[in-house]
Amino acid sequence: MKRVLTRGARVPHQQAMAEAPKKLHIKTFGCQMNAYDSERMAEALGAHGYAPTDDIEVADLVIFNTCHIREKAAEKVYSELGRVRAVKRHRSVRGLDTVVAVAGCVAQAEGQEILERASVVDLVVGPQSYHELPWLVGRVGNGERVVATDFPAEDKFLSLPERPLARVHPSAFITVQEGCDKFCTFCVVPYTRGAEYSRPVAAIIAEAERLARAGAREITLLGQNVNAYCGEGPDGADWSLAKLLRLLAGGPQIERLRYTTSHPSDMDDDLIALHGDEPKLMPYLHLPFQAGSDRILAAMNRKHSADDYAALVKRIRAARPDIAISTDIIVGFPGETDADFDETLALVRCIRFARAFSFKYSARPGTPAATLPMQVPDSVARERLHVLQRLLEDEASAFDASTVGRKLSVLFERKGKKPGQIAGRSPYLQAVHANGPEGLIGQIVDVDIVSAGPNSLTGVIKSEFQWREPVQAAL
Ligand code: SAH
Ligand code: SF4
Ligand code: F3S
Repeated sequence: MKRVLTRGARVPHQQAMAEAPKKLHIKTFGCQMNAYDSERMAEALGAHGYAPTDDIEVADLVIFNTCHIREKAAEKVYSELGRVRAVKRHRSVRGLDTVVAVAGCVAQAEGQEILERASVVDLVVGPQSYHELPWLVGRVGNGERVVATDFPAEDKFLSLPERPLARVHPSAFITVQEGCDKFCTFCVVPYTRGAEYSRPVAAIIAEAERLARAGAREITLLGQNVNAYCGEGPDGADWSLAKLLRLLAGGPQIERLRYTTSHPSDMDDDLIALHGDEPKLMPYLHLPFQAGSDRILAAMNRKHSADDYAALVKRIRAARPDIAISTDIIVGFPGETDADFDETLALVRCIRFARAFSFKYSARPGTPAATLPMQVPDSVARERLHVLQRLLEDEASAFDASTVGRKLSVLFERKGKKPGQIAGRSPYLQAVHANGPEGLIGQIVDVDIVSAGPNSLTGVIKSEFQWREPVQAAL
């Protein structure tokens, strides 16, 4: 007999576990916030008897957590759905049901359209409705096709279960802020993730402490506009990101802090100063600038000029001279001329980025830029992207080379590609591998950087290194 869940109802844990365990397969696309959401979905469903599996063929529930940022990303889900149709058919021949769900930003943007375009889909669930998943899946079990895209962000955070302590990665993520009120004219995020919402300080501290107790050494605070964070503090006042970071840094178990992604106009003085005076705040900042031409920046509604950006970086470097700055850049925005593009190259040369992500503009339905005249031909945009990426690669290599010969503290996170190797991240977020015992995974170790390759630095762990026993991930 099928179990009928009522909305918001929780099946008692014991009861859910006593039934035959169901299998859940989640495939995640897009940004780190989607990765965080996928973990939270797995946790919400785990409490209802779903065990994760990497094998789609044995999954009773398949979730695609999707990204809508560029056309290519958004179209990926439809090729995945084509593949899962065959899986669902094979399973049904064997008498097995498969529920197929589309979650994330494509779900939010396209809603009902997905059900019309892909008959294999049973459930479309927007990023703010994940706490409703057990109930929504129950509705599918009763023969409905469901679209759930209309909840405010706070419901989700208040209703998701506490994160279990098992299997915590040494570098953990916490979403502290969702949504965006900036409305850059090219971007879907304000529509797919909605208005800016900040979680209360107490909830974030509680989550960070749980993660730290389970072995997380580094916490990265996530938000589409994380430095616009403005959450309710324990004193009832609105707290800024700098204030939140300062409180987190006071926790003895958390050794490293990061945050991403920031908007230049929300880098306040306090946050800049914190980079200079809080050693736990890692010297790395992702600060997208998108374009170097003021004309294009205005058309993008970025709210800053190229000079504003350069002056801001100068102030940040005055507070923390060795900080590694990374960025996002778009080429081929409508109306971008060769002269505009040259200004993007000039700003890149002026800043010298440690790392960068660059994209060809993709017209997104419903965004103001999609209907602008003078869309740049694809061949021109492609050529500009090629030129830009060569410059960015040179800068990234120069930055990596500048760390060769230095001793850097590395948080080891996993086994390396070759036997005997372990791999982790430097304070500047560079990938580092070294020969060392697996017992060092989860530890922060001083490493001599001996060479820099295209994807990773090679380090040597000092033989006299005394390592502490790993923190037990016990509950
Ligand atoms: N502030 C956000 C940005 C999300 S989108 C964050 O938290 O990361 C990531 C990057 O994708 C943007 O910075 C931008 O460079 C790029 N991007 C967004 N919309 C785009 C579009 N329509 N075409 C090409 N690139 C885009
Ligand atoms: Fe998109 Fe701009 Fe908001 Fe970033 S700041 S999420 S690019 S609208
Ligand atoms: Fe993509 Fe949504 Fe993140 S559009 S980049 S998954 S916020």
